Amino acid sequence: MVLKANEENIRRASQIIKNKGIVAFPTETVYGLGADALDKDAVIRIFEVKERPFFDPLIVHIDDIKWIEKLTIEFPKLSKNLVERFWPGPLTIVFKKSEIVPYITTGGLDTVAIRVPKNEIALKLISYSGVPIAAPSANKFGYISPTTAQMVYEQLDDNVDVILDGGKTEYGIESTIVYVENGNVYILRLGAIEIEEIEEIINKKVIISEGVKSPGQFKYHYAPYTMMRIFNSIDEIEKEIRNYKKVAVITSKKESFYFKDVIYDYFSEDGNLREIAKNLFEKLYYYDKIGVDVIFVQAVKEKGIGRAIMDRLRKAQARSL
Ligand code: TXA
Ligand code: MG
Repeated sequence: MVLKANEENIRRASQIIKNKGIVAFPTETVYGLGADALDKDAVIRIFEVKERPFFDPLIVHIDDIKWIEKLTIEFPKLSKNLVERFWPGPLTIVFKKSEIVPYITTGGLDTVAIRVPKNEIALKLISYSGVPIAAPSANKFGYISPTTAQMVYEQLDDNVDVILDGGKTEYGIESTIVYVENGNVYILRLGAIEIEEIEEIINKKVIISEGVKSPGQFKYHYAPYTMMRIFNSIDEIEKEIRNYKKVAVITSKKESFYFKDVIYDYFSEDGNLREIAKNLFEKLYYYDKIGVDVIFVQAVKEKGIGRAIMDRLRKAQARSL
């Protein structure tokens, strides 16, 4: 059931969380599938609905940093700096967990990933529920992350108690995940906060170590069922396009070219990276849904949020490789 995220319905959804149910809700990044992070049975339901392996840990969403003290056993200076600069916002920080965080939430790890989302609906939901909310992206495991309530509805409606509709999400890709150790910041997942922004705060280079400490990194992810191909320039795919009957081509900025029998689209009129990120999953989802033989997606420059965009595209493409 989709409900408009007004005051009354956020209150209603918070009751569901209190009663150990699950609620899909918007954050500034993507829609999350939330339950009481401190309740084992509630969290198990998230894994079941998503068909997600139990060793893949969840992110715990809080509305106030007072929770850090309760959920963790250590708050390093560097993490404090990151919190001050980026919260509320799309930066997830991995801490050493306290006893009250169940292992089901952390995929069996002694660490817990935490963030304060920058979205009024999400913040109210957490605050009215009175508990931290564990929430992965509200999609089936390995599939495209939802950036609209409609995308959640079409995938998960039968299995969630309520879907709060707060419109399209602002960033369109997930939070950046970091781990802090011995004065270094390790990037476990590229995301909506750019590594350049983090480096400015910590006055040194971050260390990219995806896949090492982040067990949630799988061969494919964010992936349509339809075959997908990343390309650089149009000339490169001109010939290949003719091998398929129904083709979708999505470029990063608006182009004027014409191929017969090709469905053409673009992510951003002027190639703005933030806008590309915002539209990325929705467009992939759309062409996956209408059914084409292949989706060709143009690569972007790997700077700023472009790194996270390319990370998502490569992992999305990996299902069909
Ligand atoms: O933007 C986001 O982060 C969204 C919204 C809903 O907040 N959430 C999200 O959750 O992307 P999910 O489940 O799709 O990705 C969570 C990932 C895990 O797959 C894993 O890689 C990492 O977070 N993670 C969680 N806990 C961790 C931990 N203790 N140590 C290392 N990585 C962790
Ligand atoms: Mg996800």
